[in-house]
Amino acid sequence: MHRIAVVTGSSSGIGRATATRLLEAGFTVIGLARHHNQSGMSHDRYHPCTADFSDIEELDKIAADISKDHPEISVLVCNAGFGDFRHLENFSYKQIQEFLNVNLVAHIVLCRHMASGMKKLGQGDIVIVGSEAALIGKRKATLYSAAKFGIRGFAQSLRDEVGSSGLRVCLINPGMVRSAFFNDLDFEPGNSPENAIEPDDIAKVIVETVGTRKGTVIDEVNLSPASKAIYFKNKRL
Ligand SMILES: NC(=O)c1ccc[n+]([C@@H]2O[C@H](COP(=O)([O-])OP(=O)(O)OC[C@H]3O[C@@H](n4cnc5c(N)ncnc54)[C@H](OP(=O)(O)O)[C@@H]3O)[C@@H](O)[C@H]2O)c1
Repeated sequence: MHRIAVVTGSSSGIGRATATRLLEAGFTVIGLARHHNQSGMSHDRYHPCTADFSDIEELDKIAADISKDHPEISVLVCNAGFGDFRHLENFSYKQIQEFLNVNLVAHIVLCRHMASGMKKLGQGDIVIVGSEAALIGKRKATLYSAAKFGIRGFAQSLRDEVGSSGLRVCLINPGMVRSAFFNDLDFEPGNSPENAIEPDDIAKVIVETVGTRKGTVIDEVNLSPASKAIYFKNKRL
């Protein structure tokens, strides 16, 4: 069967690495993000689709169109997201709404559309990129953990809801990954290779998960850098 995967956040980091690995594995990939021209992604089976996840109404229409046009989609990788780590009182209502739209609501809306098509197929894999922040809350991560704890509860419930229809739901919880995620943040992983996971490490786990024998579900995978070190940019000399 011709296999089609949807990957969100395919223009950078984990999403780009995952789209690349899925293309290598023979999938056709529909990639969702805002800025495709900077991604360097080019392949005859790669189809970029522009979507801003902060606009949920628009995303709902895009997701409905994609699932109508491609009823054979069998893989959804929910990965798009960004971090914003500040004390809670620094966020306006609008910023809170936008943050939760991109990091939580958008994934739920996409799963709602794609799971429905996958149920008709009688099979499908939904892989969601959570975070270590889905497992423990820390200061300045109120919004990030709210979104990631939320997505973890969503993944557990969806797994239970759709398992008997042949769908599998896997949550991947990485620690620090070396990517553009840190470009606008005031910290980043330390410089040594042991201080961060590489996006391709996550991509390999995702492709492995999707290829697992149908009778087995990988519920959750936690990954960490071998040696945690955070570098604060404003302390740079
Ligand atoms: N890096 C880490 O340390 C780390 C650790 C744990 C979990 N994660 C999670 O991993 C996922 C991917 O992060 P990454 O490290 O690969 O970061 P990244 O390199 O910055 O990639 C983020 C991706 O999300 C997309 N995105 C961001 N805002 C969007 C919006 N409003 N609408 C549509 N797409 C949007 C970006 O595309 P455009 O900018 O083109 O829209 C980009 O493709 C996120 O969910 C993040 O929370 C990251």
